[in-house]
Amino acid sequence: MRIILIPLFLLLFATGFSTGQPGEGKTLYEHHCSRCHGTDGARGLFGAKNLQKSLLPDTAIALQIRNGKRIMPSFKKKFTPDQINEVSAYIKTLRIPAI
Ligand code: HEC
Repeated sequence: MRIILIPLFLLLFATGFSTGQPGEGKTLYEHHCSRCHGTDGARGLFGAKNLQKSLLPDTAIALQIRNGKRIMPSFKKKFTPDQINEVSAYIKTLRIPAI
């Protein structure tokens, strides 16, 4: 019996029980941010900054997501601190490396 249970347990751990949620940042971004910033970060609706060209450091990104700026709404009531981190990490993947 134990011989069967051990691999089953390991399989559950490998699939179901991971603590982080890879891809959550992308999902959140697509739901809450892409209408202004576009799925690629460059849409620029309502004067939204081009996230492909943004050079903001992590702390400033998190601050801006929490507090908003001008037309950009505040997300501090919608997102947990973890979700803010996930979204911040995701938008940095949209950046085009400066040449
Ligand atoms: C209603 C439109 C709108 C939505 C929705 C929106 N933004 Fe913005 N965003 C803006 C505007 C407008 C600016 C430019 C603000 C300014 O500096 O005047 C901006 C600027 C930013 C900046 C600063 C970039 C820089 O280099 O200065 C970041 C980062 C950012 N947005 C991330 C996000 C994220 C992440 C979300 C989703 C959680 C989001 N935005 C949702 C409109 C929006």
